[in-house]
Amino acid sequence: MKLTVIYENHSGFKKGLLGAHGFSALVEHEGVKVLVDTGADGSVLINNMMRLGVHPNEIDYLFITHGHYDHTGGLKAFLVERERPIKVIAHPGVFTRRVSMKPRRREIGIPFSRDELEELGAEFVLKEKPFEFAPGFWSSGEIPRRTWDRTVGYIEERGKPQKDSIPDDVALIVDLGESVAVITGCGHSGVLNIAWHAEDISGKPVKALIGGFHLKGAKKEVLDEVAEGTDAEKLYAGHCTGIDSYAYLKSRLGDRMEPLHVGKTIEL
Ligand SMILES: [Fe+2]
Ligand SMILES: [Fe+2]
Repeated sequence: MKLTVIYENHSGFKKGLLGAHGFSALVEHEGVKVLVDTGADGSVLINNMMRLGVHPNEIDYLFITHGHYDHTGGLKAFLVERERPIKVIAHPGVFTRRVSMKPRRREIGIPFSRDELEELGAEFVLKEKPFEFAPGFWSSGEIPRRTWDRTVGYIEERGKPQKDSIPDDVALIVDLGESVAVITGCGHSGVLNIAWHAEDISGKPVKALIGGFHLKGAKKEVLDEVAEGTDAEKLYAGHCTGIDSYAYLKSRLGDRMEPLHVGKTIEL
């Protein structure tokens, strides 16, 4: 399996690549190419894809980890650039309207309607349960919250805003034979819950946990639980992990922990 970071908060070291809040990664395995998430801004996504020599026409599936704007905002630009329809794997909750109250009320959900994306060629495959959508590529389905999760925002339905548990937060699980790789978007379900669920449904150990861990501002006890609670061989953390939390985990996990940046490749 080869993963290339397309969109991330940090631009990395290659000229012409743009860093911006959000996440997207290309995962290639057994001849199939899956684009996980699309970042927030379509022009940044397309710029980085082109600079990295990846065209939307080459992608076999889109996998959307959850409906937040910083993972779905590039969807429209991707579909406009692409010349034929594409299957989009996600959870049925991906179109939920959601808001943040900080620092002011603002929409933080997917910024497009299902209709407009379908007109541009998106063929949504929306499932709550784990399923294999291409050989070796699994959607985790909904992730049981066995320990703490890391949610943000509210759902505005029937008047009063309700806290959003982000049930549509799913991870991509790639079967490597003896082990699995797990790719998270924001890790809202809690990275430990995500890793444990991937082990449960695959029956295999986690070789690498890759993506946003959503640990910005997390208490030391939470970070200690992450450091001690997973047997994952490697943890590649970026996006919403938080620089202080990253640094603390790095001090505890050493070479097991690596940061992400646009253009970084991981081969497993
Ligand atoms: Fe995010
Ligand atoms: Fe998110």
